[in-house]
Amino acid sequence: MGYHCSLRAWLPALAAASLAVSSNSQPTTRIDYLIIGGGPAGLVLAERLSQRAAKNVVLLEAGPDSIDDPNVSIPAYYPLIQDKKPNYVTEPDANLGGYAPGIAQGHTLGGGAAVNGMAYCRGSSSLFDDWAETSGNEGLAWDSMLEEFKEVSRYRDPPHADYEQFVNASGYGNGPVEVSRSSGLTGFEFPFARAIEAELGLQQQDLTDGTGIGIDLGLSSIFAKNRTRSHPRNTFGIIAEGRPNLQIIHSARVTKVHFEGTTAVGVTYQFGGEAVEVEAAEIIVSAGAINTPRLLMLSGVGPREKLEALGISVVSDNPEVGANLRDHPFSIMQLQVTPEVLTVWQWLSNETQAVIAHEQYAANASGPLGWNNGYSFAAFRLPDSAWPEGVDNTHYLSLPEDRPHVLIQFSTVPFIPSPNSTIIAWASLMQPEAAGSVSLRSADYRDGPLIHTNFYGSEGDKAAALWTYKKLREILRRPEVSHLIVAERYPGPDVISDEAIWAAMGQQTYSFRHAVGTAAIGKALDSNWRVKGLKGIRVVDSSAFPFPTTCHPQAVVYALASRAAKDILLGDSCKK
Ligand SMILES: Cc1cc2nc3c(=O)[nH]c(=O)nc-3n(C[C@H](O)[C@H](O)[C@H](O)COP(=O)(O)OP(=O)(O)OC[C@H]3O[C@@H](n4cnc5c(N)ncnc54)[C@H](O)[C@@H]3O)c2cc1C
Ligand SMILES: *[C@@H]1O[C@H](CO)[C@@H](O)[C@H](O)[C@H]1NC(C)=O
Ligand SMILES: *[C@@H]1O[C@H](CO)[C@@H](O)[C@H](O)[C@H]1NC(C)=O
Ligand SMILES: *[C@@H]1O[C@H](CO)[C@@H](O)[C@H](O)[C@H]1NC(C)=O
Ligand SMILES: *[C@@H]1O[C@H](CO)[C@@H](O)[C@H](O)[C@H]1NC(C)=O
Ligand SMILES: *[C@@H]1O[C@H](CO)[C@@H](O)[C@H](O)[C@H]1NC(C)=O
Ligand SMILES: *[C@@H]1O[C@H](CO)[C@@H](O)[C@H](O)[C@H]1NC(C)=O
Repeated sequence: MGYHCSLRAWLPALAAASLAVSSNSQPTTRIDYLIIGGGPAGLVLAERLSQRAAKNVVLLEAGPDSIDDPNVSIPAYYPLIQDKKPNYVTEPDANLGGYAPGIAQGHTLGGGAAVNGMAYCRGSSSLFDDWAETSGNEGLAWDSMLEEFKEVSRYRDPPHADYEQFVNASGYGNGPVEVSRSSGLTGFEFPFARAIEAELGLQQQDLTDGTGIGIDLGLSSIFAKNRTRSHPRNTFGIIAEGRPNLQIIHSARVTKVHFEGTTAVGVTYQFGGEAVEVEAAEIIVSAGAINTPRLLMLSGVGPREKLEALGISVVSDNPEVGANLRDHPFSIMQLQVTPEVLTVWQWLSNETQAVIAHEQYAANASGPLGWNNGYSFAAFRLPDSAWPEGVDNTHYLSLPEDRPHVLIQFSTVPFIPSPNSTIIAWASLMQPEAAGSVSLRSADYRDGPLIHTNFYGSEGDKAAALWTYKKLREILRRPEVSHLIVAERYPGPDVISDEAIWAAMGQQTYSFRHAVGTAAIGKALDSNWRVKGLKGIRVVDSSAFPFPTTCHPQAVVYALASRAAKDILLGDSCKK
């Protein structure tokens, strides 16, 4: 009895009692699907593919389990996470005056979604329609992705939030990942939003319903009631745990994919100081936008000249692997605020506030520890008047009308050490023109990747970044918000000329940690997620994004993996 070529043929999950998340086992059965990486993409795939009881699924994750780590589960603690959040060193970026911003990635079951800031957004619908067109995968179009968003997530309103926020919950279903608004406010959200409204004429929107442009008071991947992080490990990981046909092995880092000719046949992974080899019928790489191209290149898949220069024998010449690295680069301002603003500094360093905050959270999950330290943001287009004469803005003007060029946001997490209570605010490019790249330093898997950020790498990008940073400063000087600000600490009031502002921006420019695109569907991959020119190997994760989303990307990683699981199962059921 074969499967019909229909998703209805999915078998229900088998209930079983075996412990699936383990740190000391090796796969013992024939592996149908070997997933590399346990971030949102990898764990969604593991859960979805293992719904087919006849398929044996193994997931290998390089990092540890963090199900019991309070720094992961308590939302306000996310800035404290260190060991599960390696910051990859990047090359000095000439566009930033030689500063090297670095790119952090998650390294634990849950991936980036276990260590991130929990902002939950989806952005402009037209982006997904573009993805579908350029990749040839119709399932990526907005209408189809909306169904995936509904399958993977649900919205719940926090029981005691006493402020108004527009939430369009019609874009949510009853999926495992819980999304909520904050249960309280730091005091900066509304003043910032009002100043933006007054300066730019934007309205409050819910940027998870397909809308791209507007002011958003923010939704987050936090369980509404108990105020803990909702992430792949404690949602999809829990659902799949115990299935006899799934093994999730953490602290297991894959160092090489093996090929016979152009067919992937297995991997080597490092586990407890030993190299273990396993065979698999199908390999799915979900190691994130830095480590997916890195592993492919270590295995001989990538740009021929770069691989040969390092002495790596080429399995497949694929120049798109590691190319097309895009992020949401941003430049910060840092400002000291009045004590009424409930910043990280207040709950961490102000003795009185610290005691109250811990009591509130322990009593009934109330107070600032149950928030992700406060944020609100706005995504918008540059007006025509913003473009300096002679600057090539064709990339920006070619983007559909619903597509924001830039985003401004605040957070109460300081980036520059300060003895006082401060916030940061930043100006970020959301649809950058210039791309960077990921490649290798050597053929040794222990050497870090070689990353060229190329932030603000075109004259259009540079003009957009400078204009937005200056506009952000004007917004923060408006009366709606300025009464909360004691002083601008960075760049500081004496930094006035465009040259001085640009230099200051370069020193304080960061990756939003939204790296994508380094093994893009339609470029490095065919329309069904297969690495072009090879058999038995796919990529499903943030590397597969053809172009960045218009706001925070994690929501889209879950939905993309949910879609890909259908494509994979359908394709495999139908092929003979
Ligand atoms: C610090 C930080 C803050 C962020 N803030 C936000 C936010 O607020 N909102 C938002 O929407 N997005 C945010 N993001 C981005 C978001 O978390 C990522 O886009 C998302 O996690 C990408 O998912 P992924 O599955 O593609 O890869 P990842 O989440 O990176 O998961 C990849 C996994 O693969 C593992 N891995 C890598 N190499 C190997 C190997 N060789 N063998 C085995 N396992 C391997 C890694 O350890 C990791 O766990 C943030 C990211 C970071 C790092
Ligand atoms: C939580 O973060 C703090 C500060 O970085 C660190 O000292 C502590 O060890 C972390 N806890 C765990 C369980 O990793
Ligand atoms: C809510 O979102 C749905 C799509 O999820 C959209 O069709 C609808 O227009 C939105 N409603 C409002 C009031 O914005
Ligand atoms: C918080 O609530 C969610 C949803 O009810 C639940 O799955 C999770 O286990 C809870 N977390 C903690 C730490 O209590
Ligand atoms: C510390 O918290 C107390 C109580 O809320 C507040 O009155 C005081 O101003 C805070 N101190 C500083 C330096 O912000
Ligand atoms: C939490 O408990 C405190 C008393 O300990 C109470 O004042 C407050 O209203 C409660 N808040 C919520 C959100 O239940
Ligand atoms: C900043 O903090 C330091 C150290 O607590 C304090 O001495 C100083 O007065 C503060 N500055 C301002 C402007 O509040």
